[in-house]
Amino acid sequence: MSEKALLKPYNKGNFTLRNRVVMAPMTRSRAANEAKKPEEGLHDIYYQQRASAGLIITEGSQVSEEAVGYINTPGIHTEEQLEGWKQVTEAVHEKNGTIFIQLWHVGRMSHPDFHDGDLPLAPSAINPEAKSYTPEGFKDTVIPKAMTKEDIARTIEDFKNAAQNAVKAGFDGVEIHSSNGYLFHQFFNATSNTRTDEYGGSIENRARFFFEVLDEVKKVIPESKIGARFNPSLNGMFGMTMDEETIPTFEFIIKKLDHEYDLAYIHLSEPFNDVSKIPFAVENIAEHFRPMYKGTLIINGGFDQDSGNKVIENGHADLVSFGKLYVSNPDLVERFKNDWELADWDEDTFYTPGTEGYIDYDTHKKEESVQ
Ligand SMILES: Cc1cc2nc3c(=O)[nH]c(=O)nc-3n(C[C@H](O)[C@H](O)[C@H](O)COP(=O)(O)O)c2cc1C
Repeated sequence: MSEKALLKPYNKGNFTLRNRVVMAPMTRSRAANEAKKPEEGLHDIYYQQRASAGLIITEGSQVSEEAVGYINTPGIHTEEQLEGWKQVTEAVHEKNGTIFIQLWHVGRMSHPDFHDGDLPLAPSAINPEAKSYTPEGFKDTVIPKAMTKEDIARTIEDFKNAAQNAVKAGFDGVEIHSSNGYLFHQFFNATSNTRTDEYGGSIENRARFFFEVLDEVKKVIPESKIGARFNPSLNGMFGMTMDEETIPTFEFIIKKLDHEYDLAYIHLSEPFNDVSKIPFAVENIAEHFRPMYKGTLIINGGFDQDSGNKVIENGHADLVSFGKLYVSNPDLVERFKNDWELADWDEDTFYTPGTEGYIDYDTHKKEESVQ
């Protein structure tokens, strides 16, 4: 059984994990408190229950108030939030787990209701024409404010400050959420970034903001503890529309990371929807990008145990991250190991407050003993 690729320990550079099963970042909207901090008896338990993963990547956590776009998401920019996260890292480390925090800025995927009526920030004043889930329910997104140079400089500082807080809170590393149509992705994509300054126009310019953030974050946490997430073929979701420069932009970024940086990992997603009819899209992300990146590559998106083992065995990825399976299977590693049945997740409680659908999914043994 120890032959299974997903269950083998992972050792590359100074990145050592006890298996290759990664818990993907998932917003669960349980920080239903004024401080937007992880809560004792809730977040610490949730992540501790899943600590046998080789690596846990937390839910997206905002780097500032400006970065918020969803209700009850935790932050990592205040002392109180940092203290809340400490309980989480301690709980995971108690079980010998490894945990990175995902640093998040939603950019234009937000609503003035989150910002005292101010407009959300974005590279350009272009409405994503999406929905924002506000405290009063779904609302249409608006035309955001095009970020000034000062806004950009402040946001870079916010990421650095958040990374510093992550170190203080005891995280093993940070993942920059440069994926899924949020702020960095909005800079990368020509349909959301029409800037004419050094942050827009060419591929290199559209990638500049990401690398400036990375270079600042590197000052407070070693590169070997920084990951970055990308969803190159995201199209028709989260306000993203691909064009002929989209894939070349991700190729530029990933090759630059390969040549000039030594990150903990890059974390790629296979397309979220059918892109077979999109001429600019790449359908097999791991296969396409693997030859461009020598470091650790995590692949995500619709994997199960069999396809996860296969993608590692055929050399397209080093690690596989699982999202929804981790909602309902806290002991996913043990279930894989023993070929135990997997429990189904309940979408209705993905984002609801409290313990239900959050920390009440049983481990396999408990399920057995109930029967
Ligand atoms: C409830 C839920 C919340 C999510 N929140 C985030 C998030 O905060 N950050 C992120 O990068 N991806 C987020 N995702 C995407 C997942 O990380 C993952 O890419 C997606 O679920 C596909 O993987 P899967 O097929 O293994 O579930 C979320 C997905 C779900 C289902």
